[in-house]
Amino acid sequence: MANDDVRALYDDRPYPPEGQAPRSNAVSSAWLRGAVHPANAPLRDGARVLVAGCGTGAEAEQFAAVVPKGEVVGIDNSAVSIGKARALSGHARYEQVDLEDAARVASLGPFDFISCHAVADYVPDSLAMLRGFADALTDSGVLLLAVNTPHHPKQRVQRLFEALGEPGAFEDSEAQRSLLELAGAWMGPVPGVGDLGSLPAHVAAADLFPPFAHHRAPSEWIDLARAAGLHAVGLRRGAEAVLAAGEQVSALFGLGRVELGRLAHEVAPAASAWMLFSRQELREPRFSEDLGTWTPFADPSVPRDQIPPLTGEESAPRSLTVAMNGVGVQIPVTALGLEILRRSDGTLTLSELCDDWTAARADLFRLFHADLLHFSRVD
Ligand SMILES: C[S@@+](CC[C@H](N)C(=O)[O-])C[C@H]1O[C@@H](n2cnc3c(N)ncnc32)[C@H](O)[C@@H]1O
Repeated sequence: MANDDVRALYDDRPYPPEGQAPRSNAVSSAWLRGAVHPANAPLRDGARVLVAGCGTGAEAEQFAAVVPKGEVVGIDNSAVSIGKARALSGHARYEQVDLEDAARVASLGPFDFISCHAVADYVPDSLAMLRGFADALTDSGVLLLAVNTPHHPKQRVQRLFEALGEPGAFEDSEAQRSLLELAGAWMGPVPGVGDLGSLPAHVAAADLFPPFAHHRAPSEWIDLARAAGLHAVGLRRGAEAVLAAGEQVSALFGLGRVELGRLAHEVAPAASAWMLFSRQELREPRFSEDLGTWTPFADPSVPRDQIPPLTGEESAPRSLTVAMNGVGVQIPVTALGLEILRRSDGTLTLSELCDDWTAARADLFRLFHADLLHFSRVD
């Protein structure tokens, strides 16, 4: 069963502290909203959502605002956190549940979407937790697992403390603050974590010095989830890697979404990983092959009616902006790519839409990975 130190930590320091929004935010992530398409089904209004490890409820209430006609259930094994969540509650329902209690988690389902954000690292028996999620999901339901990776600065900061004679627990003393500042000066800002020297006390306690059970790499999570009956269907790092690839993007055409995400995590590891899992396998086009029989449809977030129809050169450079990690990222596309996006309403195959779509292959690949263009195919 769950680690008593973890329960004690969150009974003592419930997360997020009163009046504060969670630090990294699943609900407002454009990547998440796009990646759970078609038709954002798992997060459509009316959906049932489980917030697994809901803390004091801020995340669950945000999901409740996304699905006002749906139902949001928040569970956590910290009694203090659940008490605070219930006191705050607008629309979500809360229960004290240990995520290792797979039968109990499954009994709360079925859910269209499960968010397990910044929680799984604390749960010792990952397989039991994942089995509970698999049994609690609908057939088309999606699980978001947002975890820290072995590249999180935690071990390195703890090593610094240990070497300089500071205790391994965060006490927020002057000496510890100055060591955190030193670590921050040495490491620089850590993507996804920020400047170590100015971390709020609750984040330093819960993120850098917590009784984490483990730090797994994304490929380990993917294998474990497979054993629990869940298929990986998305990794945010893959989308980021494609958008950073520039001219070299065509070298990646042969890779599927998950292969690409795994590779990106191996080549350019990040401190955290966002993964999506489903009971159904992913059906996706391969960009190294003929895509003509696939039907593209633009994400509902794309204002297609505001994209002007193509005039002039098909190869003329254009760009689109998409939010990634809360930052606006520019996606380079040609005028032809933009025209295909404008006309992608889900009724015509790519060959029916455009004879020379191959000229826009790199555009389509980028738009697909940025979750602005989806593809379906009827066999
Ligand atoms: C960093 S907080 C994340 C809260 C919320 N998901 C968010 O992102 O804002 C981690 C939460 O996981 C909960 N937790 C840790 N181990 C758990 C377990 N075995 N069962 C249920 N909840 C657990 C803690 O009590 C804590 O509230």
